[in-house]
Amino acid sequence: MSKKDLEGLVIPEHIGIIMDGNGRWAQKQGLERFEGHKAGARVFENICEYACDIGIKVVTFYAFSTENWKRPEKEVNALMELFRRFFARVNARESENEKKRMRIRYIGSRAGLPQDIVSLIDILESGTENKDGLTVNVALNYGGRNEILFAAKALAQRAAKGEIDPDKLTEEDISSGLFTAGQPDPDMIIRTGGEYRISNFLIWQSAYSELYFSDTLWPDFSPEDLDRAIIEFNRRNRRFGGV
Ligand code: IPE
Ligand code: IPE
Ligand code: MG
Repeated sequence: MSKKDLEGLVIPEHIGIIMDGNGRWAQKQGLERFEGHKAGARVFENICEYACDIGIKVVTFYAFSTENWKRPEKEVNALMELFRRFFARVNARESENEKKRMRIRYIGSRAGLPQDIVSLIDILESGTENKDGLTVNVALNYGGRNEILFAAKALAQRAAKGEIDPDKLTEEDISSGLFTAGQPDPDMIIRTGGEYRISNFLIWQSAYSELYFSDTLWPDFSPEDLDRAIIEFNRRNRRFGGV
């Protein structure tokens, strides 16, 4: 690994990653798209470990969007099977989690996910709740608009009951109704796979995130690529509207 390359650099506290390009990676090699997702899942685990080693506090991985249900049933089922296996494997690997002190959080809408996957997620979240190392947010059946709608509905319900005054709502009230409540906003969003868009990922939280696009297809993404993104992050001048 390449921890040395990062000496003296600011390590972003929270990085969001849009893991894109699995399908194209597979197709380029004459494989089924699913093989790309399988390879991508291995890279996801590798990058989790590396993020933990270099001291990032939160990484949010975009694994499946609310729009990805539009894909052929065969691909959706194959992806669900991968998630199922991943969560089951991590649940069974308690001692290793202990060592890495990783806390796994789910972000997204549980409604619509297979019930057994929801149960695995619940076990994993409660089992790693007290870890104080890296927080890994898994965004699965996640959509930024859906998340904001969810927060807005909760606020509207409280207002209808007379618990809050709509005139006094603040941006903080919305932030704390999101799935990422209590976490810092992402300092940087990385998207692999050569597409230059956000695709409904952390749209509220990324208001001032540095955007980093890489042409590397996700299954080829390595710790060195993450280093490159962090080096680039250190060259940026974040002004937040100031001078
Ligand atoms: C990202 O890779 C993984 C998911 C969206 C689940 P893609 O499957 O979108 O790969 P491309 O963009 O088709 O290459
Ligand atoms: C974004 O990738 C979603 C994930 C990586 C999970 P997509 O491949 O679904 O995005 P679009 O369709 O190219 O915008
Ligand atoms: Mg894609």
